[in-house]
Amino acid sequence: MTELILTQPDDWHVHLRDGDMLQETVPATARCFHRAIVMPNLVPPVTNAQLAAEYQARIQEAIPSGKSFTPLMTLYLTNRTTTEDIVTAKNSGVTAAKLYPAGATTNSDAGVASLQQLYPVFESMAEQNMLLLVHGEVTDCHIDIFDREHKFIEQHLQPIVETFPTLKVVMEHITTKEAVQFVSGASDIVGATITPQHLMLNRNDLLVGGIRPHNYCLPVLKRNTHQEALQEAVCSGSRKFFLGTDSAPHEKHKKESDCGCAGCYSAWSAIELYAQIFDDLGVLDKLEGFASHFGADFYGLPRNTTKIRLIQEEWTVPESITLPNGEPIVPFHAGQVLQWKLDQAFSG
Ligand code: DOR
Ligand code: ZN
Repeated sequence: MTELILTQPDDWHVHLRDGDMLQETVPATARCFHRAIVMPNLVPPVTNAQLAAEYQARIQEAIPSGKSFTPLMTLYLTNRTTTEDIVTAKNSGVTAAKLYPAGATTNSDAGVASLQQLYPVFESMAEQNMLLLVHGEVTDCHIDIFDREHKFIEQHLQPIVETFPTLKVVMEHITTKEAVQFVSGASDIVGATITPQHLMLNRNDLLVGGIRPHNYCLPVLKRNTHQEALQEAVCSGSRKFFLGTDSAPHEKHKKESDCGCAGCYSAWSAIELYAQIFDDLGVLDKLEGFASHFGADFYGLPRNTTKIRLIQEEWTVPESITLPNGEPIVPFHAGQVLQWKLDQAFSG
């Protein structure tokens, strides 16, 4: 096979940031994706409908002319979020709300300290048909970082899903076999996104032969048996698992630091990375469902009617990209060769 024509994909989990950075991230994402679920972990976070609308307008200004791209907005849940915040957000077109346990990841200090306290908010979300997107890691300092996702499922996610059987829940960027099992065994309205880095890499790629800060993200890469479970999930063709890159830019000096930031910036090679992964797994026929159908179906949105074309052609991911503020950033998979390339001239 030398070309692949796919329904245009969407990215169900992306960090576009704000300000100057939008000039970089929005064209990179709109290059391939028609829609994207935009994460709200700005500083300060996007905690209400008005902030979401203002942020959406800033994103829209950065869309290159001639590109069709729809940013779908999310609300950042805190312990001060009210049921009225949910109703107002839903009425103003916000798609989902994101649960960050306080301290779990980048810019999550304002996140949720008491999950129980948010139960009335979850109830309102279920009534409003607003999706709950979850960063599924406990944050207790005595819990080993490699166990944090597993423990979150037992302690928090299972009870939430049982208590709110009509709430649509996406477990974001899953990294473990326990998450695959949990999502597979849950009802049809519980799904998960999977990133390219968690499919492509395991913790050896972070730690063997030296620390590789550009492979550091949260939830952290796990051992290879977990990577294999994620690969099996996408190979199965289950409609519960769909594309979410978690593309999350941090300047080079903030990654290559004595306390490096978590996040892999994959937007410039996202669909090509997934194509490579599916090709290597021998399941290119499963790519379109994962990348372009299952997410839209899960969210209850129409599938895209436009198409993209990928051609089999070697290219090398750049070693570095210069951000609008002049700072360099090292993209995910920098300097490495991919076998599939998006045909930017194709419009279908
Ligand atoms: O690696 C990550 N980076 N994981 C997250 O959950 C947040 C993200 C970011 O915002 O940089
Ligand atoms: Zn994220």
